Amino acid sequence: MYNRDMNSVVKQIKEKLTIEEVISSYIKLEKSGTNLKGKCPFHNEKTPSFFVSPDRGSYYCFGCSAKGDIFSFVEQFEGIDFKGALKLLADRAGVAYTPYSKQNFAGGSGYGAGNDNSYTDEKSEKDQLYAVMESATKFFQAEYKKNKEAQSYVAGRGITEQTALDFEIGYAPNEWHSLHTHLVKNGFSDAVMEKAGLIKSPDVGEVVKTTKRYYDRFRDRIMFPISDSTGRVIAFSGRILHDDGKSAKYLNSPQTPLYDKSTVLYGIHKAKTEIRLKNYSILVEGQMDLVLSHQAGIRNTVAVSGTALAEDPLYTHHLALVKRLSSNVILAFDSDGAGRKAALRSSRIAISMGMDVKIADLPDGKDPADLVRDDKSLWINALKEAKPVIIFIVDAVLKESTNERTLPKLIVEKVIPFVAELRSNTEQAHAISYINGKTGLSEVALWEDLKKAIADAKEKARLSAGANALVSSNNGIAQASVLQNAQGMSGAYGAQSSQNSQGVQKNNSYSRVDSVARKLFGLIQLLEKQTQAGGENKVDNSAVIKKISDDMQRIMGVESFEKVKESLIPHMQELLFEAEVTYGESGFALELPELMHTLEIDTVKNEISSAMAQLTKAEASKDQKTSAEIMKRCHELSIRLRELSVKGV
Ligand code: CTP
Ligand code: MN
Repeated sequence: MYNRDMNSVVKQIKEKLTIEEVISSYIKLEKSGTNLKGKCPFHNEKTPSFFVSPDRGSYYCFGCSAKGDIFSFVEQFEGIDFKGALKLLADRAGVAYTPYSKQNFAGGSGYGAGNDNSYTDEKSEKDQLYAVMESATKFFQAEYKKNKEAQSYVAGRGITEQTALDFEIGYAPNEWHSLHTHLVKNGFSDAVMEKAGLIKSPDVGEVVKTTKRYYDRFRDRIMFPISDSTGRVIAFSGRILHDDGKSAKYLNSPQTPLYDKSTVLYGIHKAKTEIRLKNYSILVEGQMDLVLSHQAGIRNTVAVSGTALAEDPLYTHHLALVKRLSSNVILAFDSDGAGRKAALRSSRIAISMGMDVKIADLPDGKDPADLVRDDKSLWINALKEAKPVIIFIVDAVLKESTNERTLPKLIVEKVIPFVAELRSNTEQAHAISYINGKTGLSEVALWEDLKKAIADAKEKARLSAGANALVSSNNGIAQASVLQNAQGMSGAYGAQSSQNSQGVQKNNSYSRVDSVARKLFGLIQLLEKQTQAGGENKVDNSAVIKKISDDMQRIMGVESFEKVKESLIPHMQELLFEAEVTYGESGFALELPELMHTLEIDTVKNEISSAMAQLTKAEASKDQKTSAEIMKRCHELSIRLRELSVKGV
């Protein structure tokens, strides 16, 4: 029943929304033959290799192999699960779908209790967690309405009543069991509440497990619900109302099945559209900063929820989240030691991810919330005057350096490492010339420093990535270097490696031969499709198809032809996609001889490298006769390779 409903919802949504309109609301697409293409949102790239097929309702990225339909796209892009994507797209398509609707779950009428709803038992754990979070949100809001002190504190921070409502700001009473009692009344189990991070039991070790006494995690706190990008509450952050000198100022939900602090930015559900529209995001530290920035009309703001304890991986995650929406970012962290340190650290990571980064310089000791409360134009101006990161640091160094003789050293230590992270030479050249203009240091010397910094960074990356990464990044080159005459051939169809948004090298499992064979099989698919097409589109390609597969079998040998073909069966859709993109417009006639030629070269190279492996084995076992035979074979192969390389196409 449930599944059938879901399938029909999926079908209805797909009838109403085209893949073209869904994806182009997230990224820019342009026409490419019968398909559309754009820059892949799932990995870093400069030239578009992300293709969308309106006919098939699917997308595919040649760079990182991301593929799927509108649902998987939204899941991946928004960082949500299938049901979340279903809800989002159902809303958008105007299709009714209410899996965890308010009527069914939250609030007074009772969740489960006294309500013989067998639906309840079937609900997945996550649904129950969402429901309990929603119920808690309502509870805190109701408590807030009753508590004058909480309201006047919030008002004193400059937050209007409307903003408090918009952000569902609440209050957790200064009691041990108020939320717990409320949720029990509403039929939630202790297990669910505990799993959601709302209640705790005293840590009494193993002894008295059976008589757990629970108490509320959040007490006497102004509550900020943290939502996922679709707006479902997944966690809370609570600010202490009466500072007792020992409790933390902010207390957050623990890690739960709904909440992983590295994949969530506070305010993302309210900011995402505006970030896309304005094509930049603003990162602030705290909840107050975020709420007040939105109130001041700057709605492309998201908050990282603290910087003091943050580390590189967390910065990387957060930056990757906003980068999906726009690669331009302004960092507006507190103007204190921790904030500045965090700004430098994360801006360096951001530029290494290819982002365009500015830093907003706030008055000493202030944060965005302070500025908005004082006068929102202070905040708006601070953003207007945000400086590109390199300029920001150079200016800071100049301010700091009182002694001309120490200036070069400061520039090398504090600025050049950032320049080294810039992705393009043009950007680096701009930076160097800016530094030269500002400091008078010679460009030649600066370039030398830069080269050294780049080499240092590479060495560091090499050491930290370890031997594995080294092998994979040199994939295909190692074997080419066995024979000098392979020069100029490597690379053209070399094993592609791609970078995902975390900057991790992914190793493509295809060998060089397979990668050319792949293209040829894709071409065969395309030709077969045209042959099978009815009506005026029909072209009889059977002769060409036969010629291509004959040639491939001759070059590769029948056995490996069949083997590769079989291994590609699960990928035929993508291959077809690729062939359409490559040959749909311009035809393949010109490329075919070159592909065959490359296939032949790569096949010979492959044979050489496997011969080399045999040779090593034979030598290790001191088998001189075999060694000599292999050497001879290698020699022949290398002559063959040279002939092929000279012959060209
Ligand atoms: N934070 C936290 N735990 C703490 C202190 C801070 O998680 N013990 C996070 C909160 O998300 C907070 C952010 O770090 O909003 C920034 O910290 P800070 O600048 O100290 O907080 P403010 O937002 O300025 O706090 P206040 O409410 O006093 O303005
Ligand atoms: Mn602050």
